Amino acid sequence: MLYLVGLGLSDETDITVKGLEIVKKASRVYLEAYTSILLVEKEILEKYYGREVILADREMVESSSDDILHDAQNVDVAFLVVGDPFGATTHTDLVLRARTLQIPIQTIPNASIMSAIGSTGLQLYNFGQTVSMVFFTETWKPASFHDRIRENRDIGLHTLVLLDIKVKEQSLENMARGRMIYEPPRYMTVGQCAQQMLEVEEIKSAEGEGAGVYGPESLAVGAARVGGRTEKFVSGTLKELCDADDVLGGPLHSLVLLGRRTHELESECSAGAYATMLSTAILPLLWILHSSIAFAKRGTNVAVFIVMCITNTYPGIGFICLPKRTPNSRWRLTFSALLDLWLTKLRRTPATDGGRVMG
Ligand SMILES: C[S@@+](CC[C@H](N)C(=O)[O-])C[C@H]1O[C@@H](n2cnc3c(N)ncnc32)[C@H](O)[C@@H]1O
Repeated sequence: MLYLVGLGLSDETDITVKGLEIVKKASRVYLEAYTSILLVEKEILEKYYGREVILADREMVESSSDDILHDAQNVDVAFLVVGDPFGATTHTDLVLRARTLQIPIQTIPNASIMSAIGSTGLQLYNFGQTVSMVFFTETWKPASFHDRIRENRDIGLHTLVLLDIKVKEQSLENMARGRMIYEPPRYMTVGQCAQQMLEVEEIKSAEGEGAGVYGPESLAVGAARVGGRTEKFVSGTLKELCDADDVLGGPLHSLVLLGRRTHELESECSAGAYATMLSTAILPLLWILHSSIAFAKRGTNVAVFIVMCITNTYPGIGFICLPKRTPNSRWRLTFSALLDLWLTKLRRTPATDGGRVMG
């Protein structure tokens, strides 16, 4: 049997119980490692699964699939795919080859970026066609994604843009000379994607054809490491997202271009996010103001407490100033209630938990 096992989006613990049982008992286990990546190394997977995992690069899957399928009529072979095996990755060739060899196939689904992107607060019902953005070169700037976005936006739908990753790729020169030298891995960022999207709009506009699908002021959401402990979301205009990479951090990234029709609940999510920003920024400022007045009135020393609020994904710093002699029990109660409210708001806001609202 050939098992296509989804691994989920983040780390070794995202595999399903059913998937793990298959991995433990299979004769061979392959990890497809070029259409997406987990946020942990292969060795961590091996330790958790308690067995060896064979890395299957593009070359192996596309040119040596018979090695993967060897004897799978008689023994179990597990082929691990990050996310869901059929979420924006199909491996149709491998499946068709297995069918030709009369190897039974079973799929073990898991979370995919196609569904997890719902954690932005945008409703999956309101998404149109998903598009892919590849790394542009000086001479190659494929723009077919632009037409798909136009179709989506014409009927008001959001567009999920999946970003190029280059793992174990040869440079054109090394490929031409037949040298098996590979470039370091590259993962496209939200900033690069937003820049390329705007570049294509400019090209279309200069050519006088098909421009005006979106522009620098169009709203979008950048998403990083969705499903992981350090996931981040940043919303803003495309122009703002060009500079959002520092906030978003490491790979993997995806971008959602908002449709013209946004459900009121989606807007409410953003409003909640805005409230979070207000509470993080304004509450500490009010305390500083209040304490400064108290300081001025009473002439007492001011004790400064730096509160490092490390929530699941968000590091926030508040400077709370309290007059030295005033914190009696009523003060302390009020202070802790407000701090609690502030932290609760940080943790509960789904659209930007760990992120930043830019506009
Ligand atoms: C070809 S798709 C693979 C999808 C995978 N099979 C799945 O079901 O999620 C790979 C692209 O999806 C996006 N992606 C995958 N996982 C992600 C994550 N955890 N956070 C953000 N984007 C992600 C990135 O743009 C990445 O380059």
